[in-house]
Amino acid sequence: MVTAPVGRLLWVGLIWLAGTLCWAADKPPGFALSSAHPDATAAGVEILEAGGNAFDAAIAVSAALAVVEPTGSGMGGGGFWLLHVAETGRQVMVDGREEAPSAATATLFQNDAGDVVPSLSRDGPLAAAIPGQPAALVHLAKEYGRLPLAQTLAPAVRLAREGFAVDGPLLARLAYRFQALSRSQAAARVFLPGGGLPEPGSLIRQPDLANMLEMLAKDGVDGFYSGEMAKRLVRGVRDAGGIWQLEDLANYRIKERAPVTFDVDGVRVVSASPPSSGGVVLKQVMQVLSLTQALEQPAVDRKHLVIEALRTAYRDRAAWLGDPDHVEMPIDRLTSEAYAREIAEAIDLERARKSADLIPPQTLIEEGEHTTHFSIIDADGNRVAATLTINLSFGSAFMVPGTGFLLNDEMDDFSAKPGVPNAFGLIGTSANAVGPGRRPLSSMSPSFVETPDRVAILGTPGGSRIITMVLLGILETLDGSDATTIVSRPRYHHQYLPDAVYFEPGALSEAEMATLRGRGFTLKSAGREYGNFHAVVWNRSANTLDAAADPRGIGEAAVRSSSAEKVLGAAAD
Ligand code: DON
Repeated sequence: MVTAPVGRLLWVGLIWLAGTLCWAADKPPGFALSSAHPDATAAGVEILEAGGNAFDAAIAVSAALAVVEPTGSGMGGGGFWLLHVAETGRQVMVDGREEAPSAATATLFQNDAGDVVPSLSRDGPLAAAIPGQPAALVHLAKEYGRLPLAQTLAPAVRLAREGFAVDGPLLARLAYRFQALSRSQAAARVFLPGGGLPEPGSLIRQPDLANMLEMLAKDGVDGFYSGEMAKRLVRGVRDAGGIWQLEDLANYRIKERAPVTFDVDGVRVVSASPPSSGGVVLKQVMQVLSLTQALEQPAVDRKHLVIEALRTAYRDRAAWLGDPDHVEMPIDRLTSEAYAREIAEAIDLERARKSADLIPPQTLIEEGEHTTHFSIIDADGNRVAATLTINLSFGSAFMVPGTGFLLNDEMDDFSAKPGVPNAFGLIGTSANAVGPGRRPLSSMSPSFVETPDRVAILGTPGGSRIITMVLLGILETLDGSDATTIVSRPRYHHQYLPDAVYFEPGALSEAEMATLRGRGFTLKSAGREYGNFHAVVWNRSANTLDAAADPRGIGEAAVRSSSAEKVLGAAAD
């Protein structure tokens, strides 16, 4: 593949400078947000209208999602909160990722014969890593919020105590995880009334969760990581076969990390850094796309280039990435222009390359219905992009009696054995091996895209497909699309192994499919739509706000400006 001249990336600074010399508002005309559930969006609106900033709203939305979208994220899970502090311009990633307990070993999920036993890292307490979300919410309140936790957690406490109505997607996922949830008495009591599925529209009340949130508001991290709650958690986990210890909870700390920030062709992308793989993969891919001038190519060639760039980036993800506090990673090399050029030069627009044939292709599990993302901007220009998770639907499906929240199964994001794929078909090496105190490698990629005249706040759930969805969202932003188009666009995906392009209906035209097949790509229907993308776009030249929730979900976006009021609902599931 012919690449662009060496100086191409050097133009970035000049384009950026030229852009910033144009008029651009320095504060939005109001606030905007989008999340995966109308009740969580309403919680954010309530806090912003009460004088809270975007960080206060992020606490309210995170906690509300923990109540009303228990399949996706929760107080027993973790996530990454990407922040932009308008006053100082500081951008930071709050790493509230779960951490392996200290008794975890590299072979924890293998049997005596050395074979991986997938259920061990997916269902039940052994699958659960030490949660980070409670500590993250306390940290956000202390370091960035304006309002007390008692106020920002109040909407979630209300929803937990008074109940929320069972919606269609929740019901479908309850049916999907029925058996695993049935095995945990406490979880079944909350979600499976009388041992069966709840009626659509009936209320789910979570008094234990309300109590837990109130305790967090009152006692801060001590309300979760030490004292009564910690003892109860450790006892409950160990009684059911888990390996948590009190010190694991006491030692859990939030980490503030510099995001991965890079400029390509006049656009700045700010995204999640390790232990997420998102920013590193995006930086490598975007550089390859720049060098191959992908955005100027015919549509089918653009797709070819995107797929080939992803193939290498996901290969490198598998080979090198893990917890930055435990492994050395050649990130400078992986994200260097020289390496991007090597990749670009290896791409042949006539023919698909083949992924290394190390393991047989795996079938991806169904995704999109777990994990959650929200995007917020406030009237001062503070921003939050947050992707939160308990991993698979309802996490480990295990709840310690009396705690009110499901524990995650984030341990499945480790590589249980080199080369053996996890639930998302992702493989890894010792860089992402199970180990005491390690944080499993993630794909969650909350991101900001900053062009001279627009700021976009993007993200989605979707396991290994998160990074490719965010990439397509960035490209859509660069094409000048509005928020609705960004979240709706049909998607395609390649992750090195399995060596196939998975696509949603409508993502590839008949002609594109014929061309790509002719070049040797294996194309497979994803079988269904996937993802639940949320975008907030601030056009700084026109000083307008736009937000949209993915029509594949039941989420809702809200935009409030001084002159107009708008709530933008997503189409039904
Ligand atoms: O951190 C990760 O990459 C995964 N635990 C995210 C899981 C996910 O997005 C599931 N959603 N469909």
